[in-house]
Amino acid sequence: MVTTTPGQPGSDVRADGRVPEELVAAYREHGFVRVRGVLAPGQAERLRAGAEAFLAAHRAESLEKQGVFSQLVNVWQREQTLRELTLDRRLGRIAEQLAGFPLRIWHDQLLVKEPHNNAATEFHQDRPYWPHAGDRLPLSAWVALVDVPPERGCMTFLPGTQDRTGLRPQDLHDEDDLFAADPSLRWLPRVTVPLRAGDCTFHSGYTGHMALPNRTDQARLAHVVIYMDEATRYSGGAHVVTDPLGVAAGDRLDGDTFPRPWA
Ligand code: SIN
Ligand code: NI
Repeated sequence: MVTTTPGQPGSDVRADGRVPEELVAAYREHGFVRVRGVLAPGQAERLRAGAEAFLAAHRAESLEKQGVFSQLVNVWQREQTLRELTLDRRLGRIAEQLAGFPLRIWHDQLLVKEPHNNAATEFHQDRPYWPHAGDRLPLSAWVALVDVPPERGCMTFLPGTQDRTGLRPQDLHDEDDLFAADPSLRWLPRVTVPLRAGDCTFHSGYTGHMALPNRTDQARLAHVVIYMDEATRYSGGAHVVTDPLGVAAGDRLDGDTFPRPWA
């Protein structure tokens, strides 16, 4: 029998910083998994305060202009509190445990659904948006900084879709677009995963997902840390993260811009 040392009560993270093998198996099978209590007690509250202050100062810079969410990218390069979370070694090591190979940070995103935004983030896959080549399956940690029940805009996943590579990028404003790209996905079960503040879900770059609208009086604050294969190369495509960097197609995406602080 394998004995494991429990971590904080209510947390899936063990005292050695790893998650149980059942969660790794669930991630590999379904393409997503919930990990409760990735943040230490009190940490979510501090991160929430940092996120709110950053949002108040930078809301106008949101990349998304149609009300689905406020989307602030590469916050870790500009804000000290959320930087701690993006570069968190324990979170990065859990991501590597799930992926099964070395990773680095691709970018982060503060994603805020304002109170009563009433707009879903419609079904899509993430990886088709990214200018990556030569990579194995990337994954994102979607960390809840406040309680996120379904009515505040938690995520819904299409289990098993992590193997649906090769689809065109999908419009996350159009509820039908992923299903137009692959009609068979419409008939899959949909799994909605509410999170308490300090919990997260990990989902792969090809796992189909959406987030419900926020119908509550409180903002939905989520910080998403996106990890890619350590060996990822630039494909040459346009992307807000790589456009200013002057990288050439075929270059490795590595160095200080794409760190792996847990290594
Ligand atoms: C959301 O949080 O609204 C969407 C997140 C995602 O698409 O990864
Ligand atoms: Ni997404």
